[in-house]
Amino acid sequence: MSTELKNKPSLPSRGTVVLEAHGIVKRYGHVTALGGADLELRAGEVLAIVGDNGAGKSTLIKVLCGAVVPDAGTVLLDGTPGHFRSPLDARRLGIETVYQDLAVAPALDIATNLFLGREVRRSGPVGSWFRLLDKGRMRREAQREMDELKFHLPSIDSAVEKLSGGQRQGVAVARVRSGAQSDPHDPRPGTSGDPHQPRYAARI
Ligand SMILES: Nc1ncnc2c1ncn2[C@@H]1O[C@H](COP(=O)(O)OP(=O)(O)OP(=O)(O)O)[C@@H](O)[C@H]1O
Ligand SMILES: [Mg+2]
Repeated sequence: MSTELKNKPSLPSRGTVVLEAHGIVKRYGHVTALGGADLELRAGEVLAIVGDNGAGKSTLIKVLCGAVVPDAGTVLLDGTPGHFRSPLDARRLGIETVYQDLAVAPALDIATNLFLGREVRRSGPVGSWFRLLDKGRMRREAQREMDELKFHLPSIDSAVEKLSGGQRQGVAVARVRSGAQSDPHDPRPGTSGDPHQPRYAARI
């Protein structure tokens, strides 16, 4: 134990700035996820970043841990610029990250996620014989669900992986909510099932 302690590099004293970010900019096409963010973290400090859904918090964390390379700005670790090209670069320097994780299929769009396993088929023989899906209806219902939850998304056709963590949580909640409102024998959302379920799901 004493040997381990002896061999440990000396830790910066409390209050010393260990991690800095200056003017971090990250754009995804026409979406500006971060428009010039600054951050200062001191030794011994627990720092919380608070902001609206889509404000850029996760993007900033991804920049700090090397998962996202910013379009502009600098990250300094112990005063030295860190040009992280991957999370491995940051991990080598002691930056570890725990991510938000949700049971959604990231590559699929919002409507498909909402109706996963209970897809709505088109009416008539095209639905029952040819198993064609009523994509327009699922899309409309998904939009209605997200509007009711007051999640304003760039587009209902976005792949879930393009949404922010909170927006993804919205999709996960909407799926529970719309699933709870459906009768298990009728895959249409909004049909009567257990009258207690919608209220319960809406409160999640
Ligand atoms: N890979 C991506 N492709 C396109 N747009 C993205 C991508 N990642 C994030 N965005 C967009 O950038 C903005 C900031 O997203 P970010 O995930 O950083 O927000 P956040 O502050 O973490 O939000 P939340 O509180 O909801 O987790 C959002 O508008 C989001 O839609
Ligand atoms: Mg986030």
